[in-house]
Amino acid sequence: MSEVYEKVLPHIYDGKANRLYEVKDHPDLLIIERKDDVTAGNGAKHGTIQDKGFYNNKISNCLFQMLDNADINVATHFVQEISDRETLIQKVEPIKLEVVVRNIATGSICKRLPFADGEEFKNPVFEIYYKDDAWGDPLVNDVEAIELGVLHNVDEYEDIFVAACEINAVLKEFFQSIGIILVDFKIEFGRTAQGCLVVIDEISPDTCRLWDAETRKKLDKDRFRQDLGDEAGAYREVYRRVCEQK
Ligand code: TMP
Repeated sequence: MSEVYEKVLPHIYDGKANRLYEVKDHPDLLIIERKDDVTAGNGAKHGTIQDKGFYNNKISNCLFQMLDNADINVATHFVQEISDRETLIQKVEPIKLEVVVRNIATGSICKRLPFADGEEFKNPVFEIYYKDDAWGDPLVNDVEAIELGVLHNVDEYEDIFVAACEINAVLKEFFQSIGIILVDFKIEFGRTAQGCLVVIDEISPDTCRLWDAETRKKLDKDRFRQDLGDEAGAYREVYRRVCEQK
């Protein structure tokens, strides 16, 4: 008989898109619950996308399982999907960084540097941001991240860089196989008590830019950020292609 995992109420964290709960009798696990709430511009714009929590839970779990089965040197925190919107995850120490990989120039990089929107990079561009709402999640470099105490040392930075590049290669090829261009994405990492790096949080249309390969239609949170409409339709389309093709 499969084990029942019971949430300890109330939640221990209530984020913009997810809630976290401890698990009764399992101090090494958490339950992540995905919400329909959506925000942009560091919380300046709020809304909901119908069934986003369902789509993101399913999409992220498919992609995390794909990464766990891929020949790469990093695991994810995924343990088991326990309901349409809830997933059992490994409890790890979160690293306060947002790690971004870009294959095509768009978004903030086009405001910061003279790249044309839609220009393909010759090599993936890698960036790290200090994850702190009060500071507006600023771009940092490896030395600053170490001085801030976010990273232990340059080896940890190097491990994150290599993992992010490997994850990009796996995801880019997979999305290409389902007619989607992986434009860019953000991932987060944590470390286990043994010091192993793991991918945490989610990989979903909230955290990636995904364009239909034929039409270049945006199938991600940019529909909400830019008031393009049909957000739920875009998330549903990604869910259908990712989870049916896995
Ligand atoms: P950016 O172009 O706004 O810097 O975003 C790069 C990628 O990171 C894009 O796929 C959206 C994602 N992202 C998040 O998931 N969370 C964030 O807070 C930000 C700023 C970007």
